[in-house]
Amino acid sequence: MKKKLTIAIDGFSACGKSTLAKDLAKKLDYIFIDSGAMYRGVALYCLENELIIDAEPLVDRIIENLNHIQLEFKTIDQQSLLFLNNRNVSTEIRENAVANVVSKIATIKDVRQKLVAEQQKMGEKGGIIMDGRDIASVVFPRADLKLFVTADTKIRIQRRLDELKNKGITSSFDEVAKNLKERDFIDSTRAESPLIQVEDAIVLDNTNLNREEQVEWVMKLIEQL
Ligand code: DC
Repeated sequence: MKKKLTIAIDGFSACGKSTLAKDLAKKLDYIFIDSGAMYRGVALYCLENELIIDAEPLVDRIIENLNHIQLEFKTIDQQSLLFLNNRNVSTEIRENAVANVVSKIATIKDVRQKLVAEQQKMGEKGGIIMDGRDIASVVFPRADLKLFVTADTKIRIQRRLDELKNKGITSSFDEVAKNLKERDFIDSTRAESPLIQVEDAIVLDNTNLNREEQVEWVMKLIEQL
């Protein structure tokens, strides 16, 4: 039997990491985990429980409440859905209200420690594709394949707009552009496990590649492992 691989996919927001991870997981029959959804789940909990005031997280209170935040992925109708304390929050976590605060939540060390531990547990048996910002650097530093995904900024904005539209969420090009810029800045400059391209990562610029072409590109890499 072939070894079940661990594949780490990192990159800036809206580069198509989750789409690629999902497509690859389907092709390989692996588990797919969108780690960003977990940070969004924590951000949603904080918003709903008044742990963020005027877009500023109340860090001490958030840390006190971490034990009350239970996140779980369930696959229903071939879709990976995120449940926050047993409630399906897959659509809510994509709303602008969450997008606007999630990067700040993701700077909190204790939040990261909790989520990284849960992510590592999910990957214990291999056969997993996880996308995020710190997957190759922190979560699975010994991953079999590490990809760093990039794409042209305008393409990224358009992809995020399309994704939101599909989920029935309205937004504008400028609004998405501003949010992505802010998040890229916070994600790559924070003190706690910032987004970095690790030395052994392979860069995938998918600006001119469609979904099938990207999967094919990665499958070729996997064959060479
Ligand atoms: O991938 P995304 O845009 O849904 O991620 C939401 C936020 O969570 C993003 O701004 C950065 C943060 N994040 C992180 O810090 N580490 C991860 N592994 C995944 C996401």
